[in-house]
Amino acid sequence: MAVAANKPEAKIRKVNFIFEKPFPKHWYNDNPIATHFMNAQHLAFPDGEKFFIRSVKAFADVYANDPELKKRVNNFIGQEGTHYAEHQKFWDIMESQDLQPQKFLKFFRATAWNGLEKAIRKYFPNGSGDKMALSVTVGLEHFTAMLAESGIINKEITKNMPEEMRDLFMWHAAEEIEHKSIPFDVLKKVDDSYALRISGMAVATWGLWFYLTSGMISLTINDKDIKRSEIPKYLLLFGRNFSKSFGGTMAEQYWQYFRRDFHPDQIDNYHLAEELLKGKTYA
Ligand SMILES: [Fe+2]
Ligand SMILES: [Fe+2]
Repeated sequence: MAVAANKPEAKIRKVNFIFEKPFPKHWYNDNPIATHFMNAQHLAFPDGEKFFIRSVKAFADVYANDPELKKRVNNFIGQEGTHYAEHQKFWDIMESQDLQPQKFLKFFRATAWNGLEKAIRKYFPNGSGDKMALSVTVGLEHFTAMLAESGIINKEITKNMPEEMRDLFMWHAAEEIEHKSIPFDVLKKVDDSYALRISGMAVATWGLWFYLTSGMISLTINDKDIKRSEIPKYLLLFGRNFSKSFGGTMAEQYWQYFRRDFHPDQIDNYHLAEELLKGKTYA
């Protein structure tokens, strides 16, 4: 299987996205359901990215004596650190729209980090909880790279987004592709077990969709400007567009992860990140 030779450096960039108030409440395709699915990403990413960082850092002693990997991990941490700070800026806008984002965040933190993550780290035998947390991170990074590729290739997805929002998601997408193999390489060095990698993916698959859906539901419930009778229509439109935009590539790449010899570099999409960042002031 061909391995991408054009792997870029996961450069840490200085960015500053500014969201002006008042920001359109249903900013994504004039569809409140689709908007709240995207808003749920603004809510879930920051805490998720902090989890990725601590999961990788837990194995600092493993990559301490590998200068090349250590440098790549530092870049990964730097990129994720910038991502969560930029997405978190939008929380304030959601507050101003009375979407009560803190309600979902409270639930998210209590169940995902203080619940599931704590239990995994504490109760898995012989310190294997930290390995499992890293494996979940690797699974989630596979998802972010898949979402990123579809988002970049399929221009329909971002066509109607406010410009600043499109720039934020596209910059994030490019960096997700740039760093997609870093946590994977850490896990490989820590423990190359196929069973470990696949069980992490099972938790990642459930966690990603459960929390994005919960976030979407919570924000929809708190949104006073949705006509309840129109929810089925918006939901149908969102579902149709989502499967059209993400369905094909994601299904194929998801199953690729289950090959025993899988490595993220086998999916040759580094050029997409490079093309997207070309000419940007922050690149
Ligand atoms: Fe990220
Ligand atoms: Fe990432």
